[in-house]
Amino acid sequence: MSNVFYRSAKPYPVAVRAEGVFLWDDAGRRFLDGSSGALVANVGHGRAEVAAVMAEQAGRLAFAHGSQFSSDVLEDYAAHLARFLELPTHRLWAVSGGSEANESAIKLARQYHVERGEPERYKVVTRVPSYHGASLGALAASGMGARRELYTPLIREDAWPKLARPDPALRGEADAERLRAVLEAAGPETVAAFLCEPVVGASDAALAPNPGYHARAAEICREYGALFIADEVMCGMGRCGAPLAVQLGGAVTPDLVVLGKGLAAGYAPLAGVMASAEVYGAVMNGSGAFKHGFTYAGHPVSVAAGRVVLDILEREELVAAARERGAQLLAGLRDLQARHPQVLEARGHGLLLALVLGDPATGTAYPAPGVAERVARVAKERGLLTYPGSGAVDGTRGDHLLLGPPLSISADEVSQMLEILDAALGEAL
Ligand SMILES: Cc1ncc(COP(=O)(O)O)c(C=O)c1O
Repeated sequence: MSNVFYRSAKPYPVAVRAEGVFLWDDAGRRFLDGSSGALVANVGHGRAEVAAVMAEQAGRLAFAHGSQFSSDVLEDYAAHLARFLELPTHRLWAVSGGSEANESAIKLARQYHVERGEPERYKVVTRVPSYHGASLGALAASGMGARRELYTPLIREDAWPKLARPDPALRGEADAERLRAVLEAAGPETVAAFLCEPVVGASDAALAPNPGYHARAAEICREYGALFIADEVMCGMGRCGAPLAVQLGGAVTPDLVVLGKGLAAGYAPLAGVMASAEVYGAVMNGSGAFKHGFTYAGHPVSVAAGRVVLDILEREELVAAARERGAQLLAGLRDLQARHPQVLEARGHGLLLALVLGDPATGTAYPAPGVAERVARVAKERGLLTYPGSGAVDGTRGDHLLLGPPLSISADEVSQMLEILDAALGEAL
């Protein structure tokens, strides 16, 4: 027997090795990582350069507690990250995962308003569908029925007013105007922030609003005194073909940017919040301390991994690669759509792409979920890893498959992905 508490009752192959876009299990089977795990392995697997830097860091300074020290590696990384993201005066609050980062952003927004003398602001407006994490605060913020419903007795719903998903039929600015009505209904003087995924990931199949949405949403937030928070845990760090996905539809500077996943690309647990100078100043010039913290925050080995991953991203021009290989993959997915009527839509930005699956007879979602899981299972049997999801329609109905290989994938490997997907769709549907 195993002593491992698995994520589900299904059987799991045992991974033993990974390199580039491939992982191998203990039976010697090879899997093409078509989803970078869960959109994590942005620079590909098995980079000796990253391992060497982490080993050096672990030998020199493995840990220094954030209540006692900053570290040279953290100072250096924060400066590089701020430059890469073109957020020169934002400050990095480094943590270990996307959920921790969103918890931090939510609490920071709350404290910011209290410091400024507006203690009545606590609500955080988010969208349906959305996914911001598994911890209770981040889950309360999420609009994802399937992952949330078990825990609703623990959630105070009035604290999390919900905005409808972006409407592709509307101009971005008009679409964002719908935020105004949600703020008005919630009582704008009680709202601390609006939190959204610029390109929605797990919950809504790489859906993005039209250009102009985020800039207008940020303006509305400013008008009402709320912070604008971009959750770029999945869509950020170049994955969508720009350092930040929020910039795809026009220039905008969020008050807080939440990062994770691709930040250290799976080499170590690393996530973070980039907070504006205004927010940082309000806290430090007010009570003088962020009333929040995690033991492993800013872990030197994780931060060292993030630093070298960022070097690789820049040196190998992987943000541009995400645009090029993303265009190739999207074109191939559109070909699959033409051949498989159960593929209702192929969409996304850069290398955050998705197939929306549904009933060709009605052109809408299947009555019950499970189809995306089936396609993913067959694709995995054929040696391709994908990230299946459900619930984009109403939290339950709606099947989709996220595709997001490492940004370092080659043109030939993209073709291999498409061949396996084609066969898997044919077999599973
Ligand atoms: C947009 C977004 N935010 C937050 C999270 C939570 O991150 P983590 O699983 O690292 O806690 C995820 C995870 O899928 C995500 O996609």
